Amino acid sequence: MANTSALFFAALLLLAAVSPARGAGIFLNGLTVNGQLCCTSTGNCPGQGVGGVPIVLNCTNIFGGTTTAGRTTTTDTGSFNFTVPLVGLILGNIIPCTVGVQLPLESVACPVLSATTGTLSSTVQSIGTVVTSVLGLLQNATITGFTHLGV
Ligand SMILES: *[C@@H]1O[C@H](CO)[C@@H](O)[C@H](O)[C@H]1NC(C)=O
Ligand SMILES: *[C@@H]1O[C@H](CO)[C@@H](O)[C@H](O)[C@H]1NC(C)=O
Ligand SMILES: *[C@@H]1O[C@H](CO)[C@@H](O)[C@H](O)[C@H]1NC(C)=O
Repeated sequence: MANTSALFFAALLLLAAVSPARGAGIFLNGLTVNGQLCCTSTGNCPGQGVGGVPIVLNCTNIFGGTTTAGRTTTTDTGSFNFTVPLVGLILGNIIPCTVGVQLPLESVACPVLSATTGTLSSTVQSIGTVVTSVLGLLQNATITGFTHLGV
């Protein structure tokens, strides 16, 4: 049993090392995810940006569980930017992470989302470019759009 999981882990590490190497044989060190939260019924832009809102980046780790890879707060324009070390496998344009916003928002900040519970959640998608940072090479990514989950 222990040997089997060790082997499985080794195989996953190998996969993790090889899979981002698509294209030019680039090894990625992390991920940068940009997005914006707007005061609309869906949270999606265009619209008035909502500042001061906590945002979480949740990713499926190589063991299949969920890891909170990053936390940030929106700027005055509703923008956010996560820059995190690689936490899961990136396969093509699909990045196993979601960006989540806990509802409700404060009524002063966004009346239309102040009476709704649940979360706004968006999948994360590569935009196909690589960014150089202090962490090394990062996959540049963005959100695909928020969906309202839960009650
Ligand atoms: C996001 O943060 C990274 C690292 O700090 C930076 O390189 C990048 O320019 C930022 N992107 C935006 C759109 O602010
Ligand atoms: C993010 O993941 C944590 C577990 O690590 C979970 O408790 C939380 O509900 C998730 N948040 C969202 C917005 O999906
Ligand atoms: C990263 O993506 C953002 C949009 O999300 C874009 O504005 C920026 O120019 C991109 N950076 C690079 C180096 O491709």
